[in-house]
Amino acid sequence: MAIDRRTMLAAAGASALATTLAAKGALAASAGRFPEGFLWGAATAAHQIEGNNNASDAWLVENVKPTAFREPSGDACNSFELWPKDLDLVRDLGLNTYRFSLEWARIEPEPGLFSIAMLDHYKAMIDGCRARGVTPVVTFSHATTPRWFAARGSWNTPESPDLFARFCDRSARHLAQGIAYALTLNEPANAANQTNAYPPFEALMRSANAAAGKACGSPGFRAGVLTDPDEVAITQLHLLAAHKAGKAAIKAARSDLPVGFSLALEDDEAVGENSVRDAKRALFYGAWLEAAKSDDFIGVQNYDRVLWDDKGVAPPPAGAQLNSLKREVYPPSLANAVRYAHAATGVPILVTEHGMLTDIDQDRARFIPAALTELQKVVAEGVPVKGYIHWSLMDNFEWFLGYGAKYGLCSVDRTTFTRTPKPSAGVLGAIARRNGV
Ligand code: BGC
Repeated sequence: MAIDRRTMLAAAGASALATTLAAKGALAASAGRFPEGFLWGAATAAHQIEGNNNASDAWLVENVKPTAFREPSGDACNSFELWPKDLDLVRDLGLNTYRFSLEWARIEPEPGLFSIAMLDHYKAMIDGCRARGVTPVVTFSHATTPRWFAARGSWNTPESPDLFARFCDRSARHLAQGIAYALTLNEPANAANQTNAYPPFEALMRSANAAAGKACGSPGFRAGVLTDPDEVAITQLHLLAAHKAGKAAIKAARSDLPVGFSLALEDDEAVGENSVRDAKRALFYGAWLEAAKSDDFIGVQNYDRVLWDDKGVAPPPAGAQLNSLKREVYPPSLANAVRYAHAATGVPILVTEHGMLTDIDQDRARFIPAALTELQKVVAEGVPVKGYIHWSLMDNFEWFLGYGAKYGLCSVDRTTFTRTPKPSAGVLGAIARRNGV
């Protein structure tokens, strides 16, 4: 391919500009502040807060017996009605960004039947963000899928990438204009990681899918959140294809919209000789990090640190802080995951989730500045980090764990749905307003 001088000069100019901007970011960070325009946000996902998402696969598996869920999602936080209050909350906390997801099951409740009213609902949310000076970061599919899609076998059927791309196409044509960052899929590698992280779920996943299949007369029913361990390899292939096809559909609607996906990345550390850490990374993240190289950014989601010795997961160090799932909470874990994601992909990073599972908000309030101090060091090293989005805006339906597991910056009264900011929300808000820890 011949490249003319103008193109070469433009490319050189762009790269010089990028270097200057990265240097400016690093400079700001070394002065104890984050780069200008840094995104400070909180995240949610439709199924976990909207409530009554009864055309979704998750709704069915939550309400059959046996179920893998501690309790059904029910009304959740009633955010389908209360979303303007959620956006007010984001703004009033001092945050400038809100990450939320579209609910595919509402937009396409039957195959090929697209609801303009539901697309308008999400458009109102995007416009509502803009009206409040809040940057909308939108996930096209966060774990749940329509029930009809699950009945067809979900991500293990070869038609799944095209079906997802059709949904992305219709949604992007309606919504892309106002979105700032789009994520096709949330943590698509998790299917591979899930049985590793929660081995007792293996049997439950199979029986819950089977019970749902019986209830809807589709023996091949697979819920998006319950990947059969034997089908991990095929679902991973289809999810990778779905990301690529979904991204192409979104780009066709608006070519300048930054598109990526989010990846759950533990801070994996190698201990001792012959650690299996790198093999684990290659197996669970390899294909996804490769795919991200051609994206506009990668969404990094980190909650914990895991040590790997020559046999597998090694026990956390003595005295480590553990959450109720016995996983290590470690303030530098986010920074390490971000460093790794950038080194492996070369693309800009948006922290799309980071948070703490705890009933003790004082611990969360201490954890946030400690982790952000470490993140600032990564920015000072020159890694292009676009923003930090905390999981979650409010306590919500924490999947298998139900409502007992708390990640929120705000609590939610389960009867009145009143949202109340916790002290940690004030801590994050103050950091956001200051643009520095
Ligand atoms: C998911 C969220 C979830 C959070 C806390 C992430 O894996 O994207 O949906 O609630 O972690 O477990």
